[in-house]
Amino acid sequence: MKAIIYTKYGKPDVLKLVEVEKPQPKDNEILIKIHAATVTSGDVRLRGSDFPPLFWLPARLIFGLFRPKKKILGHELAGVVECVGKNVTKFNIGDNVFGTTTMLTSGSYAEYICLPQEWKHGVIELMPKKINFKESAALPVGGMTAMFLLEKANLNKEQNVLVYGASGSVGSYAVQIAKQQGASVIAVCSSSNFDMVESLGADRAIDYKKEDYSFLKNKFDIVFDAVGKTTKSKAKKVLKKGGAFVSVKMLTKEKIQHLKRIKELAEKERLRPYIDKCFQLDEIVSAHEYVDQGHKKGNVVIEIKN
Ligand SMILES: NC(=O)c1ccc[n+]([C@@H]2O[C@H](COP(=O)([O-])OP(=O)(O)OC[C@H]3O[C@@H](n4cnc5c(N)ncnc54)[C@H](OP(=O)(O)O)[C@@H]3O)[C@@H](O)[C@H]2O)c1
Repeated sequence: MKAIIYTKYGKPDVLKLVEVEKPQPKDNEILIKIHAATVTSGDVRLRGSDFPPLFWLPARLIFGLFRPKKKILGHELAGVVECVGKNVTKFNIGDNVFGTTTMLTSGSYAEYICLPQEWKHGVIELMPKKINFKESAALPVGGMTAMFLLEKANLNKEQNVLVYGASGSVGSYAVQIAKQQGASVIAVCSSSNFDMVESLGADRAIDYKKEDYSFLKNKFDIVFDAVGKTTKSKAKKVLKKGGAFVSVKMLTKEKIQHLKRIKELAEKERLRPYIDKCFQLDEIVSAHEYVDQGHKKGNVVIEIKN
């Protein structure tokens, strides 16, 4: 099968399209023919070994000290079950599925992958009806992160929520999830992305390059830092007493109930993945170059035609 591998950390051109052996499912695994994957900001960080100084050594110990342990990158996917191991009960051949590859030994930049039907760190579920492979692949990481952090912040009806960095993947889902729960949402992003965030439901947008949100007169129940570029001390200036600050810098956990909820919302057309650009598998270097710039809107998808 075709796959993208990287055998050293570095610029996007370390990613190479090669032929590798097609995986065979173990008894508890499903073999998925992948139709779409994504390039997340986590993927480009891993490829470039671009970790904050404090986390650099621990991250390299986990992901490979001298060279990457996991040669095939890619955290998200959508595809069709082609074969099931003999102990698999949750999925059948022909099912459309979507999910993540978190902490597995192989990723989704490939024509096929084997995933356990259940494992500790990642999730897999039947794909939402009504949306396609490319849209489904773009849902899990950003959607589950937004849901986890909004739950941690005790999101409730009629709250005021500020989403800092609303035009990224996590931000675009945080705006929509907060809105569909009945909150009022102020989105902080560039003015070039105002149309995007308003189309996702934001009540108002402010440009982080022109206005400092911490000087706003409004008070918020939740300040959600969706790009890891603001601080709790700044957020405190606009938080109500007892309000919550949450950030993508916090540890999150993938939960199957969150993926199921995301699926449900997508089927009810209350949550939609915003797709910025779509590349083919053999254009992976261009896709990484684009995401490396740090200005993607929502999600970048890789279509895998096989
Ligand atoms: N904790 C977790 O489980 C978890 C999960 C997923 C992601 N993450 C982390 O969350 C972060 C965001 O990831 P993502 O993929 O959602 O976002 P992303 O798509 O990488 O974010 C890009 C967006 O952020 C905006 N942006 C950049 N600098 C900004 C600033 N100073 N203020 C406001 N907006 C700014 C950009 O808009 P402009 O073009 O206007 O600059 C762009 O639209 C990454 O660091 C990622 O590693 C964490």
